[in-house]
Amino acid sequence: MRILSGIQPSGALHLGNYFGMMRPAIELQEQGEAYYFIANYHSMTSLFDAAERRKNTLDVALDFLACGLDPKKSVFFRQSDVPEVTELSWLLTTLTPMGLLERAHSYKDKVAKGISANHGLFAYPVLMAADILIYDSNVVPVGRDQKQHVEMTRDIASKFNEQYGQTFVIPEPRIRDEVALVPGTDGQKMSKSYGNTIEIFGEEKATRKKIMGLVMDSRTPAEPKPDAEKNVAVQLLKLVAPPEVAKDFEDRLRTGGLGYGDLKKALFENYWNYFADARAKRAELAANLDYVNGVLKDGAARARALAQQVLKRAKVASGLD
Ligand code: ADP
Ligand code: TRP
Repeated sequence: MRILSGIQPSGALHLGNYFGMMRPAIELQEQGEAYYFIANYHSMTSLFDAAERRKNTLDVALDFLACGLDPKKSVFFRQSDVPEVTELSWLLTTLTPMGLLERAHSYKDKVAKGISANHGLFAYPVLMAADILIYDSNVVPVGRDQKQHVEMTRDIASKFNEQYGQTFVIPEPRIRDEVALVPGTDGQKMSKSYGNTIEIFGEEKATRKKIMGLVMDSRTPAEPKPDAEKNVAVQLLKLVAPPEVAKDFEDRLRTGGLGYGDLKKALFENYWNYFADARAKRAELAANLDYVNGVLKDGAARARALAQQVLKRAKVASGLD
C-alpha cells in the first residue's frame, strides 16, 4: 500500500493540522510505503513572500520530523524538488472539466471571502491530483476539508484511464472521523486563514494567554452544563489529555461545580505536556539543519525516481513519447 499526503508551508502548523493530518499520516508510515511532502508550489497560490515561504518550508520540515515522521520509513521531500509533477499537471488539466473546478468548495470559499483568485488557485486541485497520481498512491490521509479534492483526483484519473487506457491508480481519501474537524478558539474549524489557531509549537506565554482567553458563555461555575461535550475547551482537552482525565473534566462540567478557568488551565497544561517530547526534539533538529536538509534531499531523489516512471507511463499512454 502506498500512502501519500502533503501540507502547504503557508504558516505555523496548528492542532487541526496535527490531529487531522500529521498524526494519522505518521501512524500510517508503519503500514505501507509513505510519501509525505511540503506543498510549496501550492503555497504560491496564496503566499507571495519568498522569504516567508522559505522559512515556512523549513518550519514544516522541523515540525513533521519532530512529531515523529521517520525518514527511514517515509520518503519526505519538497514538492518543487520533483518538477515532473507540474508536467503531469498539464496532461491532467486537459481532461479536467471547467465545471469540476468551478464546484470546488475550497476555491468557492476563498472567493467568497474576497480573495482575488489567480489561475493557480483555480487549478489547485489539478496540481493536487498530479501530486497524488504521480506516486501511484492508494491512500491519502487528510482532514475532511480535503475530501473533495481527493474525489476530484479520482474523477480526473478515471477520465484519463478511459481516454488513454489504464494508467493511474485510483486513490482513496483516509479521514479519521474523530479528528476530521478540530475546532479553533472561536469554535469554527481551526484554520490558519481564520486566525483561530493553537500552534503545535507555540511560544509558552502566548499560547497560555490564547487558551485562557477562550471565550465561554456566562453561566456560573455551579450551574450544570448538559451540553458539556460542545464546549471547545472540552473538545480540545479530549485530544491532548489522557481519556480518563478528559472525561473527568467533562463530567464535572456537566454536573456543575467546575469553573471555566480551571478547565482552561487543565487544557493548557495537558497541551504543553502532550508536545513536550516533540518540542525537545524540534530544538535538537533546529540545531542540526544539515541533517534536515539531507533528509529532504534524499527524499527528493527517491520520490523523483518514482515520479519519472509514472510520468513516462502517462506520456506513452497519451502519445507524447
Ligand atoms: P489551514 O486550513 O489551516 O490552512 P491546511 O489547509 O494547510 O490548513 O491543511 C493541512 C492539512 O490539515 C489538511 O489535510 C487538512 O485537512 C488538515 N486540517 C486543517 N485544519 C484542520 C482542522 N481544523 N481539523 C482537521 N483537519 C484539519
Ligand atoms: N491541499 C492540501 C492542503 O491544503 C495540500 C496538498 C497538496 C495535498 N497536494 C496534496 C494533500 C496531495 C494530500 C495530497 O492541505
